[in-house]
Amino acid sequence: MTKIVGVSFGTKNGNNDCICKEVLRACQEEGCEIEFIRAMDLDIKHCTGCITCVKMLMSGTKNMCIHKDDFDWLAFEMFNADGVIMVDPIFETGASGLFHTVMDRFGPRMDTGNNFISTQIAQGRLAQGGDAAKGVVVPDPAIMSPKVVSYIGIGGSDWGTHVQSEHQIQAMTPSWKVIDNEWVPWSKTALMEDALIERAHQIGVNLANAAKDIDNASYQGEPGVCPHCNCNDFYLVPGENRAICCVCGLEGTVSIEDGAVKVSYGDEDLHKAHDIISGKQIHGKDIQENEGRLAEMRKTQAYKDRVAFYRDFITPTMPPRA
Ligand SMILES: Cc1cc2nc3c(=O)[nH]c(=O)nc-3n(C[C@H](O)[C@H](O)[C@H](O)COP(=O)(O)O)c2cc1C
Repeated sequence: MTKIVGVSFGTKNGNNDCICKEVLRACQEEGCEIEFIRAMDLDIKHCTGCITCVKMLMSGTKNMCIHKDDFDWLAFEMFNADGVIMVDPIFETGASGLFHTVMDRFGPRMDTGNNFISTQIAQGRLAQGGDAAKGVVVPDPAIMSPKVVSYIGIGGSDWGTHVQSEHQIQAMTPSWKVIDNEWVPWSKTALMEDALIERAHQIGVNLANAAKDIDNASYQGEPGVCPHCNCNDFYLVPGENRAICCVCGLEGTVSIEDGAVKVSYGDEDLHKAHDIISGKQIHGKDIQENEGRLAEMRKTQAYKDRVAFYRDFITPTMPPRA
């Protein structure tokens, strides 16, 4: 049976919870099994940036995080479903802090590309056998299983220009297909607005249909300014006619056609998009080269001296502890 997991990042029984449940209600009517999770009820710690996960993945040993909390449970509830709906309160024009924390914990540990490479390394070591096979753990294939996802950002005002792009970026790590990505402004009274409830219901129907046929699923929202990923959030390079999509990272030129703003990319750059496998590979290679340079630099006395200089310059102040 097709399964849809709904995750609300809002307050208990608030607008986010209820809108998430409306999406799930539609999915259930479409014949799906449903599950509802409240992110705030979970213990999810911030990513420390220690990159233990990357080191372990790249040695084929384990897809491991230093934190022992509810994140793995949450991630695998999603991985073991066919579709995910995340409903998130807008904070400071973008996704909530908790959503960012969940997003940070997904990557690079749950990145499809990293898990693909790790699987190859682990299988290679297992094939060698003996000492080479010691401690090897092949990543759970569920991490790389195809999935569809929809997002709804619920705002108390009309300040929400970053919310769709921040949500969409979450889908890039596990390579999930985005079906709907909605920004709902002025929604404190969401529950009493039938048009919004209807829209949430439609998002549920779209998600259920997409989850039943993931291979043929496609984006169901309004076309965006970015012709590649439908994002409406761009970095405009000062002094140039250059716009960089905040999600897929493609760089294009801006023009006005029939009164509407248009961003155009050169065909030769399309393979660099961050949300497709070729773009991920370019990024992975760039990072690998940079990490290699850092590893070499760390061995030098000049690098050690500079670290010591800043370590000794001032120590962090802490609040008094009882
Ligand atoms: C710290 C904070 C920042 C907020 N920033 C925004 C904002 O930038 N734009 C906006 O539309 N609403 C903003 N809000 C309003 C929340 O989005 C709104 O309270 C929330 O969606 C209500 O959800 P709930 O009923 O599920 O708790 C903010 C609320 C808080 C607490």
